[in-house]
Amino acid sequence: MHKPRLLSGMQPTGPIHLGRLEGALRQWVDIQNEGTYEMFCFVADWHSYTTRFKNPEEIAKNARMLVVDYMSVGLDPEKTTIFLQSDVKQHAELHLLFSMITPVGWLERQPTYKDKIATLEQKYSEENVAEYISYGLLGYPVLQAADILVYKAELVPVGKDQAPHLEIAREIARRFNYIYREIFPEPQALIREDTGTLPGIDRRKMSSSYGNAIYIRDTADEVVAKVNQMITTETKLRKTDPGVPENCVVCQLRKIYDPENYQVSWEECRQGLRGCTQNKKELAEILNAMLEPIRRRREELESNPDYVDEVLRKGAEKARAVAEETMREVRAAMCLRP
Ligand code: TRP
Repeated sequence: MHKPRLLSGMQPTGPIHLGRLEGALRQWVDIQNEGTYEMFCFVADWHSYTTRFKNPEEIAKNARMLVVDYMSVGLDPEKTTIFLQSDVKQHAELHLLFSMITPVGWLERQPTYKDKIATLEQKYSEENVAEYISYGLLGYPVLQAADILVYKAELVPVGKDQAPHLEIAREIARRFNYIYREIFPEPQALIREDTGTLPGIDRRKMSSSYGNAIYIRDTADEVVAKVNQMITTETKLRKTDPGVPENCVVCQLRKIYDPENYQVSWEECRQGLRGCTQNKKELAEILNAMLEPIRRRREELESNPDYVDEVLRKGAEKARAVAEETMREVRAAMCLRP
């Protein structure tokens, strides 16, 4: 029986932190293991050039690392097609054709586009910012629509911030279907409601740009050191002072990573029966126990680069076959030669 197709991807921006793990990757792995979808998971390396075009070596290095990270947390190339976006040129061709039918107005009013410009303005002086506001940056959602629609994916698990991009993908699909002929299904976003709530060391949302993240590539010692820096209840100076677990990063992470037993520790914290030192020690142990198998799997993969190459080669081949089939329909609909 034909399974509905699911596609998702991430930009290779650097190592994965726990926020991205819980907000996105974990969901991919769970869905993969349920086996109800035909899964395609890729690394959106072309997308990274929209802002980091001056650092191509870094993009290539991060892309490779992200593939290893995907597999180390449980994406299985036997069950999921894992590939690099730039290995499947059909994404670029569809992006080009979509760019012809996408009104610029749709792109200019994207909240993500406005946010990116605001970030660039903070980073670069006024004279320099213009060179970063590229054609490709404006077209970011068009490439994303091509990523999704070239596989006729029906379901796209993403973080909340990506909802507007999914809306554009649906609009482009509708517009194409209306102008030429009915080729694309309208993809649905699968948004995990608890996404983005994971606090970082300083209690702000965990994010690489805040420097408050725990990475799945951190060593056991680094995890211990980071947990020790976490903000707890400001008024709890001694073990016997009552704590407020709702405001404590250590307690919040404990709730996520020890869902069965965290209540006991919360209650003891509230009543002044346990101190932050004990809480931190236990949380570091819990996190390291969770990360240990991921570390082992990563080491295995990193000592076997030929295997990773083979996964990427096979993944690209499978992805290409599906994408090419769609492109043949698209070319025919637009009176292009096959
Ligand atoms: N824009 C996504 C992000 O930054 C990454 C991405 C690119 C993507 N193409 C995609 C996600 C297609 C889902 C489907 O997270």
